[in-house]
Amino acid sequence: MGNIIKKICCIGAGYVGGPTMAVIAEKCPEIEVYVVDMNAERIKKWNDDDLSKLPVFEPGLSEVISKCRNKNLFFTTELKKNLASSDMVFISVNTPTKTRGVGAGQASDLKWIEASARQIAEYAQGHTIVIEKSTLPVKTAQTIKKILMEANQDNSPLKNNLKSFSILSNPEFLAEGTAISDLKNPDRVLIGGEDDKAINALISIYKKWVNKEKIITTDLWSSELSKLVANAFLAQRISSINSISALCEKTGADIKDVSIATGTDKRIGKYFLNAGPGFGGSCFKKDISNLVYICNYYGLAEVSSYWQKVIDINSWQKRRISKIIIEKLFNTLSGKKISVLGFSFKANTNDTRESPSIDICRDLMEEGANISIYDPKVKESQVSAALNIDTFNNSLGYKNFKFASSLNDCMKDSYAVIVLTEWEEFAHLDWDQIYSMMIKPAWIFDTRSIVDKAKVDKAGFNFWRIGS
Ligand code: UDX
Ligand code: UDX
Repeated sequence: MGNIIKKICCIGAGYVGGPTMAVIAEKCPEIEVYVVDMNAERIKKWNDDDLSKLPVFEPGLSEVISKCRNKNLFFTTELKKNLASSDMVFISVNTPTKTRGVGAGQASDLKWIEASARQIAEYAQGHTIVIEKSTLPVKTAQTIKKILMEANQDNSPLKNNLKSFSILSNPEFLAEGTAISDLKNPDRVLIGGEDDKAINALISIYKKWVNKEKIITTDLWSSELSKLVANAFLAQRISSINSISALCEKTGADIKDVSIATGTDKRIGKYFLNAGPGFGGSCFKKDISNLVYICNYYGLAEVSSYWQKVIDINSWQKRRISKIIIEKLFNTLSGKKISVLGFSFKANTNDTRESPSIDICRDLMEEGANISIYDPKVKESQVSAALNIDTFNNSLGYKNFKFASSLNDCMKDSYAVIVLTEWEEFAHLDWDQIYSMMIKPAWIFDTRSIVDKAKVDKAGFNFWRIGS
């Protein structure tokens, strides 16, 4: 076995697998990178000539794709052949929270991880370095290891092929919306494992563009746990600042000033301290729930409830905003058109998973409001699926939401505008013109602190902003 990696296969062409492999392919032109997904529709979109159809929207992604696709970067559903001929396999499949059984609502469902491990065990040949990219509960590598090791002893037709495996953990720290720049210029690369040869093979890939000092190596478990802890600490900052936003609203302090004044202390740091409608995204809630579950499992009830509170504050923040909107609109939304600006969980992504917009829209729909939603990148079908419009049991029993194709459609004849995602274009709207087409008294609720107060005051709006 040498350290030279010629071919990489990644299972899972999602928000993590797609961009990560694209950057590896760009930085390592001598390596062939195959990204495999069982979802044929998704693979078709990755291969579309029209780059606006890529399944993932990320600034800078389409440039990398057009440079490398079908040169040394391939998107395919063909797993067997590609596993057999790869030296290195990344597992980048989703690990949703379990919806039933032991640990429902908290523990990660590892069925896709197990399925991937079984496929690798069956089809891989020779020596294969298997890398966990998905965020996983601590000690998952053990499960993967067990499945892979058994592969040498089973009765499959491949029995006579010599196979061996090394398992590494290499968690992804990219944030959506800045994925390409995070990948190209990471704060650190974390590699956990026991096999030095395998670790060095992975280091030799990252070394192409990341300084050696930024590459941290640990044991497998520390690496897996560090990813959960990093996300828990980030989410905790948001719940902390959001809890203080409520106190600011009661006392007349301004959360923007408090955030700056607090964050300029080097020990605290200025990043990730923006109050908002609560954190969303596929990771924070899932990973903290997982941490809560693991702590409970090991009998650490206090530690578990400490982290649970970060999730509780996040749910409370969303509900709190819905209640304020209802109250300001004379405690009745029945039949009123309400405009929602932004449905993705943050700006610069088309991802809606766990978006605060989902819960807030549902609260308002439950009150009888007619919601009109505009988002520059999210599609109507995503909004319908996220709001689960066919099964959503609002007491009114009808689908009181519309997807607006333009900002004008979204805001015409509405009683209130709620800014839920910090898309740049929402910071530069013509509020005078918008005011003229709305029902009076017209309200703006700015949950992201991006609207210019002086301008909307001048236009005649009633204005509410988070934490002021
Ligand atoms: C997911 C998790 O959310 C994250 O915690 C983890 O770190 C990486 O995986 P993401 O890439 O955003 O992140 O998930 P998603 O966009 O759902 O992509 C996963 C892909 O894996 C899907 O396209 C799915 O079709 C594919 N998949 C899943 C397979 O190809 N084979 C499987 O057996 C299971
Ligand atoms: C996060 C982690 O940042 C990343 O390292 C990990 O790999 C995956 O999870 P992501 O969920 O893509 O990334 O986005 P992130 O930028 O962390 O934002 C998460 C949520 O927090 C968003 O809903 C965002 O709007 C919110 N947020 C973020 C705030 O409300 N205030 C802030 O100051 C920062």
